[in-house]
Amino acid sequence: MRIVLLGAPGAGKGTQAKKLVEKYGIPQVSTGDLLRAAVAAGTTLGKEAKAVMDKGELVPDSIVLGMMEERMKQDDMKKGYILDGFPRNTKQAEALDAMLAKLNMPLTAALSVDVPFEDLMKRLTGRRTCKSCGQMYNVYFSPSKAEGTCDKCGAALFQRDDDKEETIKKRLEVYSASTAPLIDYYKGKGILKSVSGTGGIDSIFGEVCAQLGLK
Ligand code: AP5
Ligand code: MG
Repeated sequence: MRIVLLGAPGAGKGTQAKKLVEKYGIPQVSTGDLLRAAVAAGTTLGKEAKAVMDKGELVPDSIVLGMMEERMKQDDMKKGYILDGFPRNTKQAEALDAMLAKLNMPLTAALSVDVPFEDLMKRLTGRRTCKSCGQMYNVYFSPSKAEGTCDKCGAALFQRDDDKEETIKKRLEVYSASTAPLIDYYKGKGILKSVSGTGGIDSIFGEVCAQLGLK
C-alpha cells in the first residue's frame, strides 16, 4: 500500500489513516503532525512554520519538501506508506512523483475522502487530540468518556491552535484553491479513488479498505 489521502481539513484523513496503521502496520506520514512536532520542539523551522499555520496558510514548499525527502528515505517506508496532508498543491505533487521515482516506490492510489463543506466547521472546532498517543476525539460526535482525558492512555487532550473558526475558514479557502485541483491531477494519472467521508467512522473505514482493494 503506497497511498496519498486527499480531503479537506476535517474530512477524516488522520482518523482513517490511524485505522489503516492499526490494521495493516503501514506508517502514516502526516506533514501537519511533523510540522506540529517541530513547533513543539521550538526549532527554527518550527517557529517559521507556526506563524504560517496559525494563519491557516500553507507552509512554504521548500520547507515541506525538504522534510518529506528526509522522511521518505527512512527504512520503514519500504513497507509502504500512507501520506496524510501531503501533497498539498501541484508543485508538491510533481516533486513527490520525482522523489518516488528515484526511490522506486511509486504511488498505488490517491484516495479522496469527500465531506460536504458545511459539516467541516463542527468537526474541526469540536476536535480534541491526546497529547501522548494522538488519539482523536470530538466533543460533538465522539467525546472521550471523561472530559479532557484520553480513554486509551489517560493523558490530557488538547485543542489545535488552528482549529479556530477564522483560521478554519482560511484553511478551507486554501484547500479549494490549492489542494482540490489534485483530485484532477491524480484522476489524470488513473490512480484516483474516492469515498464518502460522511457517516460512521467504522463504516467509512470499510469503504476505504474496499476502494484500496484490502481485505
Ligand atoms: P494538517 O494537520 O494536515 O491539517 P488539515 O489538512 O487541515 O486536516 P486536519 O488534520 O484538520 O483534518 P483531517 O482530515 O485529518 O481530519 P481528522 O481525522 O482529524 O495541516 C495543518 C497545517 O499544517 C496546514 O494548514 C498548513 O499550514 C500546514 N501543512 C500541513 N501539511 C502541509 C503541506 N503538505 N504543505 C504546506 N503546509 C502544510 O478529523 C477531524 C475531526 O472530525 C476529529 O475530531 C474527528 O474525531 C472527527 N471525525 C472524523 N471522522 C468523522 C466522521 N466520520 N463523523 C464525524 N466526525 C468525524
Ligand atoms: Mg489530520
